[in-house]
Amino acid sequence: MLVMLVCVACVLYVTPVRTCTSSGQRNDRPIIGILAQESYSPPNTGSYIAASYVKYLESAGARVVPVRINQTLDQYVYLFRALNGVLFPGGGADLVTSGYAAAAKVFYQLALEANSRGDYFPIWGTCLGLEELTYLTGGRLLLSPTDTRGVALPLVFTNESRDSKMFSGFPADLLKALASEALTENSHRNSLTTETFRNTVELSKFYRVLSTNSDGKTEFVSTLEAYDYPIYATQWHPEKNAFEWTRDYIPHCPNAIRTTFHMADFFVNEAKKNFHRFSSEEEERRALIYNYTPLYMGRNGSSFEQIYIF
Ligand SMILES: *[C@@H]1O[C@H](CO)[C@@H](O)[C@H](O)[C@H]1NC(C)=O
Ligand SMILES: *[C@@H]1O[C@H](CO)[C@@H](O)[C@H](O)[C@H]1NC(C)=O
Ligand SMILES: *[C@@H]1O[C@H](CO)[C@@H](O)[C@H](O)[C@H]1NC(C)=O
Repeated sequence: MLVMLVCVACVLYVTPVRTCTSSGQRNDRPIIGILAQESYSPPNTGSYIAASYVKYLESAGARVVPVRINQTLDQYVYLFRALNGVLFPGGGADLVTSGYAAAAKVFYQLALEANSRGDYFPIWGTCLGLEELTYLTGGRLLLSPTDTRGVALPLVFTNESRDSKMFSGFPADLLKALASEALTENSHRNSLTTETFRNTVELSKFYRVLSTNSDGKTEFVSTLEAYDYPIYATQWHPEKNAFEWTRDYIPHCPNAIRTTFHMADFFVNEAKKNFHRFSSEEEERRALIYNYTPLYMGRNGSSFEQIYIF
């Protein structure tokens, strides 16, 4: 009898199932644009996006639309109104004269305007993307050469990183690992030195430095977050740890893989705060990267396993 009563109690007090649906406050179907850029090898072969950036965003619950170079302003404005965020990837495009730079400039200006009127539109820059953002915000080229062409480093967090948006949701043990293990892959010839950052008021007013690094001689900025806009950037490559295998300095240890996921999770959740959308499902389907097939380049000496070509 007692057993029966206990079981009835179990049934009555079972936790009600809550549905996992979006509240009106969140867009659970985010679509993020990734900028394409000129392919230099072989030369004049159009433009490309490394597939690792696509997988990175997909791993945290976003879909991807390629933002191709050489499009008209109208085409970029159309995409801006349809996308929930944009990622400026790494690579070798020219920061001033390339199609990548032209597209980045349009998206940056549209994002500043949109955010100023309360339309939350996040931007992420990785490596070349960080460098492009420093050019766009600073209004001139501000980089200096560093010896950082292929090295994994631990982050040197600044005091300000404690109050950052980017790292506030990170597990405490992973933050500790980021500061003590070489989890962040650097492959860049140039960097924004902390000295240039301090001496450039356009940058120091706009961005908070979350981490720095050094090549042994020169200290440079490695993670940035804008004060008043959802604009974020890393000189290092969070997407490579889980998705690129072609270079032996890319870390793949468990904390490196967790870093990839938590960085993607942060940015995709930022994109969920935006409610732009395509005018129809047909338009959306036509734009998605699923329309393209990546090529395997890992056996051709490329630093990328797979790329999309446009
Ligand atoms: C982009 O435009 C430039 C200059 O007109 C041209 O040289 C280049 O081939 C174009 N690239 C693509 C991928 O359309
Ligand atoms: C960072 O915080 C620590 C502890 O509060 C303090 O000792 C240190 O001077 C601070 N560093 C800077 C650059 O403000
Ligand atoms: C990769 O290299 C092979 C052999 O040289 C070549 O046939 C193929 O076209 C290359 N693939 C790409 C995408 O460049």
